[in-house]
Amino acid sequence: MGKGFRKWFVPKGVEPTELEKKVMFFEAKGCLVPNRKLIKNAEQIEGIRQSGMVNTGVLDLVAREIKAGMSTEDIDRLVYDFTVSHGAIPAPLNYEGFPKSVCVSIDDVVCHGIPSPKVILKEGNIVNVDVSTILNGYYSDASRMFCIGEVSPEKKRLVEVTRECLEIGMKAAKPYSFVGDIGYAIEQHAKKNGYSVVRDLSGHGVGLAFHEEPQVDHFGKPHTGMLLVPGMVFTIEPMINMGKYSVRFSRLDGWTVTTCDGLPSAQWEHTFLMTENGLEILTY
Ligand code: MF3
Ligand code: CO
Repeated sequence: MGKGFRKWFVPKGVEPTELEKKVMFFEAKGCLVPNRKLIKNAEQIEGIRQSGMVNTGVLDLVAREIKAGMSTEDIDRLVYDFTVSHGAIPAPLNYEGFPKSVCVSIDDVVCHGIPSPKVILKEGNIVNVDVSTILNGYYSDASRMFCIGEVSPEKKRLVEVTRECLEIGMKAAKPYSFVGDIGYAIEQHAKKNGYSVVRDLSGHGVGLAFHEEPQVDHFGKPHTGMLLVPGMVFTIEPMINMGKYSVRFSRLDGWTVTTCDGLPSAQWEHTFLMTENGLEILTY
């Protein structure tokens, strides 16, 4: 207390809201609290919600169309056409030089797979399709796993447990809990199932930009990291490896992330709004 700048200062004579009182209480204890700018207003939340609806439309389209024999470039085309025809922009396109509209990551590709006419989906593949949309300046971000034809029981279990990790992380995110509570819950579930959590990539605040604060690690310690306050919007997007957690970033294309041990990896992602009653999914 008393040591300089406080993010949640309220002038004397002004009655703080209940939310301000709570955040100021945690800030006074020395907890890391979000900048006020990270608390979205009703208009911003509505904008992100609309963006999320287009994003979900894209993923539903991919779910209907994806099959063996398709190239990942074919998926890119579906994503681009649907997004643009709904008045939106695919957020990955030209983002920090990313050349395509969607990330498609197969088996040992952890994330950021670049669509290509040379990469063909095959029976037995597990595929992450990661879609991010800008609508009227508002960003949303979600990904799902797809099993192509008959998939081995081992890979199927990885896909299912990874989905559980997202759900468990979501439930751990209570209002006025902490980012570390999410990561802790996810890591416990992954480890219990013999899997590891990728440490070099994380979830993130989202909404007015593609990547905002806070960084949402999928591992960690309870009661650490940033306070979770109603009005915050962020992703949870655990990448869970069947083998070891270490990953490699491609030096050839600058993007593709693969597991070092060559074993498969899975990922599920939603964009969430923190409310007074816990997380609400904005990308359903
Ligand atoms: N959709 C990814 C995420 O969840 C971002 C990928 S960056 C891109 O943050 F440029 F590859 F799209
Ligand atoms: Co994301």
